[in-house]
Formats: sequence, structure tokens, C-alpha cells
Amino acid sequence: KFEKIWLIFGVTTLIIFLTVIGVSAFYLGNQPPSCLATVNPENVDTTAPFNEPGLKKVEGKEWDYELVFVASAFSYNPGKVEVPLGAKVKVIATTKDVIHGFEVAGTNINMMLEPGFISEYVTTFDKAGEFLIVCNEYCGVGHHTMTSKIEVI
Ligand code: CUA
Repeated sequence: KFEKIWLIFGVTTLIIFLTVIGVSAFYLGNQPPSCLATVNPENVDTTAPFNEPGLKKVEGKEWDYELVFVASAFSYNPGKVEVPLGAKVKVIATTKDVIHGFEVAGTNINMMLEPGFISEYVTTFDKAGEFLIVCNEYCGVGHHTMTSKIEVI
């Protein structure tokens, strides 16, 4: 008897959750945070700024540099990059295939890269050293080998 009550309770809760997720996803057009613009995943290599991955000095913006990354299973381009100490950098990243993570260990950068979307984050590198970039979204058999490195000098 009690089992039946719990079963009904459980199923009802499940339906409520699914409804909420469904409504927010389809009606409100929910997008994961930090995904501001879109890019066609098939044209990433020929679309600026992703046609030139790496660090670039910029003028007249709130940040001094733009650091562009392209992720694809199972690596990042560039595989290693040097950033001057104290630089205010806008990190701009996307993925060519599946969802990847973009976590820079020891910093406050932690983004989700989704096909079709551009993830951006502005930060200042005020600590010298090597910072490992890791993928924290499971993306396939090579997931654990997917890394890059930011060297702040
Ligand atoms: Cu890319 Cu996990």
C-alpha cells in the first residue's frame, strides 16, 4: 500500500521535472551560460577568429589580447600557448565536433564548448606558471588525453 503511494509520488515528481526541463529548453530557448554567439561547426576552420587559433594582441577593447581555441576530439588547437604575465585576455573557444570542456586548472576559467556556439571568458593572468587545460566533459575514448597548456611568463 505504502509502496504504491511512493511509486505515485516518484512518478509524479519525475513528470514535473521533465516538464520543467522541456518547457525551459524549448519555450524559453535556454542556452548554456557564456554561449553568446554562434558559428557553423562545419566552417569553424574558415570562420574568424577560429581560422587563426592562438593569442592575438587587440587594440581599443577592454582586454589586451584575444586567445582563440578550437577543440575537436581529442585535442585543442593550439596545443600550447604563451601568455604575458598580467595580460587581460578574452578567451574565445568553440568545438568542431562534440561537446568538450575547457577547464584551465588553477584559474577561474571553466567553460563548456558546444558545437555551433562560441564560449567566451575574460580574465587576467596575474600568476606566472604553467596552467593545464583539460576537457571536463566526457567526449569519447580519447577524452582523458585531451589537454593543452597555457604558459604565463
Ligand atoms: Cu573533449 Cu572530453
